[in-house]
Amino acid sequence: MTIVTLPRVFSGIQPTSDSIHLGNYLGALSHWVTLQQTHDCIYCVVDLHAITVEHDPALLRQRTRMLYAQLVAIGVDPSRSTLFVQSQVPAHAELQWVLGCITGMGEAGRMTQFKDKSQKEGSDRATVGLFTYPILQAADILLYQAAGVPVGEDQRQHLELSRDLAGRFNGRFGDTFTVPEALIVKETAKILDLQDPTSKMSKSSPAGCLSLLDPPADIVKRVKRAVTDSDGEVRFDPQNKPGLANLLTIHAALTGGTPTQSADQFSGGGYGPIKAAVADVVVAFVEPLQQRLAELTADPAELDRMIAAGGERAAALAAPTIAAVYERIGFVRGGA
Ligand code: TYM
Repeated sequence: MTIVTLPRVFSGIQPTSDSIHLGNYLGALSHWVTLQQTHDCIYCVVDLHAITVEHDPALLRQRTRMLYAQLVAIGVDPSRSTLFVQSQVPAHAELQWVLGCITGMGEAGRMTQFKDKSQKEGSDRATVGLFTYPILQAADILLYQAAGVPVGEDQRQHLELSRDLAGRFNGRFGDTFTVPEALIVKETAKILDLQDPTSKMSKSSPAGCLSLLDPPADIVKRVKRAVTDSDGEVRFDPQNKPGLANLLTIHAALTGGTPTQSADQFSGGGYGPIKAAVADVVVAFVEPLQQRLAELTADPAELDRMIAAGGERAAALAAPTIAAVYERIGFVRGGA
């Protein structure tokens, strides 16, 4: 008998809102689901990252459980993949400390997401945790020796830091970590805000965001109000017609075609029909998910049991890496 080892991927998502949005889904989570057919997948609800900005404890707990359930509802299979909550595996924080000790202050300070978020928070309120956030992200990935990391475009710089830290540790202390590759699917790497197609879709701009838990009527309304342009010609031109290109990208991703095929299908009709079609496909996509989610959350004890099992599985996978790291950097190991 030959044992085939599948290449491993790792990715994470923050429990910072009540619902996954379409940017999360098309940019990353839909790939999490398909990668299960070909890869050994480890997926994580990153609650340690979620406390880097001010938060409400009860809401965090609720969002963590709900996000876990949403991931199962979209098709992440906890019996096949390791799906877990980050704070249940202490090795993430342990490895972060070690990696923090080989990260330069300047290097961490160049992270654009930190600059953006700390500007929003105000420099007095930005925390040290927010500053070291990308180092924790590197620890998440390196702990599991992941070869690939399926993410959207906004995570590219954090992935570069993870690669640099893996290479630096390996160079100083001996080969320990797999150097991970970002797996970014170009077509859907950045889904745009419906109201401001120069920014990525994000929960911080509700009118421009489509969430998986939105009532269908809200989805229809928001898609109808999506900002396009005034020339009325349907063609896929992300440079000059970013709002329309975004709608075509969403339509294509949910119908299994290409944006150009979607443009051809609606050419000559103005923007009304493509907007109506996008609203239809998004609603048809979310309705069964909302149904599945209602079933999953109807049994909270079973959900917590799944979360605990995922945590145990992840902790077992992380243990050899943290043991090797502690050995290589010169810590005295218990019982040795
Ligand atoms: P987060 O929680 O902001 O987003 C989860 C995933 O969704 C992608 N994404 C998008 N993709 C396309 N268009 C958009 N508008 C859009 N908005 C979000 C993100 O790129 C991401 O893949 N730092 C990470 C969480 C994290 C992580 C990790 C990821 C922590 N540790 C280790 C990978 C590996 C974050 O905040 O993602």
